[in-house]
Amino acid sequence: MDKSKRKAIIAGNWKMNKTPAEAKVLLEEILPVAKDADCEVIACVPFVDLSVALEVTKDSNVKIGAENCHWAESGAFTGEISAKMLAEMGVPYVVLGHSERRQYFGETDETVNKRTKAALAAGLKPILCVGELLWERECNITEEVIARQIKLDLFDISAEDVLKTVIAYEPVWAIGTGKTATAEQAEEVCAFIRATLAKLYGQDVADAVTIQYGGSMNDSNAVELLSKTNVDGGLIGGASLVAEKFGAIIDAATKG
Ligand code: 13P
Repeated sequence: MDKSKRKAIIAGNWKMNKTPAEAKVLLEEILPVAKDADCEVIACVPFVDLSVALEVTKDSNVKIGAENCHWAESGAFTGEISAKMLAEMGVPYVVLGHSERRQYFGETDETVNKRTKAALAAGLKPILCVGELLWERECNITEEVIARQIKLDLFDISAEDVLKTVIAYEPVWAIGTGKTATAEQAEEVCAFIRATLAKLYGQDVADAVTIQYGGSMNDSNAVELLSKTNVDGGLIGGASLVAEKFGAIIDAATKG
């Protein structure tokens, strides 16, 4: 299979880190390390950082993403942000279904599906996260868990919209733990995600979807992970907060 059919995407997920002033500083450090990237580079930042992030990156190759959005256009949802609000600001990407949202904030596949549809309808590109718990891997049901998440999260979403969606495979046990999946484990599940997409949408669509790996990806393991056929990029937490490390991962994708 031809990996060059797909866009390589290196995205940082800043999570609940960096005030607007700190975001400006970090993005100004990221711009020079990203400027020669031969892949798409995205920084997904807290809502309050979006404005400054869009301003700092406006003449650059670094794109900005939000970390979540609600499914309704507007209404009585205190504390939530709609896809339409993000779209109006000019935010192109949004992370959806992150395991921290599922674990700590009660997100389910049903709400992830609704948010994904709303994001697509507003013209945003979702970065849809899926991944198994350690216990599920130990029980040998990783593939069932991933297939279920892919089928439910993408329920009733057209092939045309799936082509605008990035999938991030993030094994929950590898997030923020320093415990990375081996390149073989990452490749195995990313290939399985592609096979699941092929069943749902056909091989041509599946071959064109960017599938990232996320979970303790850093400057020392990125080259190996990104060399795998079905690993088209990374969704990076901790290491995306240090420009030098994020830059090294961007370089790894450029070569990979
Ligand atoms: P870490 O890179 O800190 O493990 O986080 C991964 C992640 O959750 C990205 O969304």
